[in-house]
Amino acid sequence: MSYTTIQLEERAHYSIISLHRPDKLNALNATLLQELHKAIMICQDSKECKAIIITGTGIKAFAAGADIAQLHQQNKESGYIFAREGQDVFTAIEQCNKPVIAAVNGFALGGGCELAMACHIRFASSTAKFGQPEVNLGIIPGYGGTQRLTLLVGPAKSAELILTGAIITAEQALSIGLVNSVHSPEELMPYAIDCAEIIASKAPLAITASLKSIRASIELNASDGMEFEAKSFAETCGTSDFKEGTLAFLEKRAANFTGN
Ligand code: COA
Repeated sequence: MSYTTIQLEERAHYSIISLHRPDKLNALNATLLQELHKAIMICQDSKECKAIIITGTGIKAFAAGADIAQLHQQNKESGYIFAREGQDVFTAIEQCNKPVIAAVNGFALGGGCELAMACHIRFASSTAKFGQPEVNLGIIPGYGGTQRLTLLVGPAKSAELILTGAIITAEQALSIGLVNSVHSPEELMPYAIDCAEIIASKAPLAITASLKSIRASIELNASDGMEFEAKSFAETCGTSDFKEGTLAFLEKRAANFTGN
């Protein structure tokens, strides 16, 4: 599979997807969204891939938003499809059975910020900038931003960011819980890769079950969420990797997980 707007690098235990329109600050056009979706599905189906890192090509941008040239073509009817198609890609990321880590290396504005928020973990370079500047263009966030930002930082901070279109620094993003941690530009990818390698060393079925159970805390009410967790816990108790992980502890040796 060849790509024109992303790069997919499949390494031994994890894959790196780079958004690759550097001369347009990796703005998300329709082709890029399709290719990103395809790459996520390939990683999801791969036995070798245990975690995915999404980053932007170049030093300036993760993604500077939806492609404003394509955005300009939209009208009331097509705008709905435009939003839904982007939402579908980001929901596929959020629902991916492998952990998806955003390594935010520069501007993450509009759709770029929304993409980062659809990932399970967000690490930022100290040079990264975040924001939902859609009001400057006469629109609102349409790729899940009003929903995910509100969930992550609460309704008041979400309103302030979305209503003013303010661009904030990585440190400010950290202080409101929008990112997990901030790193120097040189340390960002090594840190994200370390995290991916650590996750890849764990029992894969437990990782997927953890992701689904964490998701349930958002989608279900508290008692259904507990029920979901108990059933998922029971499922993991039925795996070979559970027997191996507990036995390895008792025998004081490293576990050898097989994903079964
Ligand atoms: N869509 C399409 N093209 C974009 C883009 C976007 N969201 N963001 C940047 N670009 C393009 C620029 O048009 C420019 O292309 P050109 O060289 O062919 O003219 C190129 O990327 C570089 O951007 P430029 O604006 O020259 O860089 P800058 O350093 O002066 O400014 C930003 C950087 C991020 C502040 C600025 O590009 C910007 O405000 N982008 C739009 C952000 C936005 O509103 N995103 C939400 C969209 S919903």
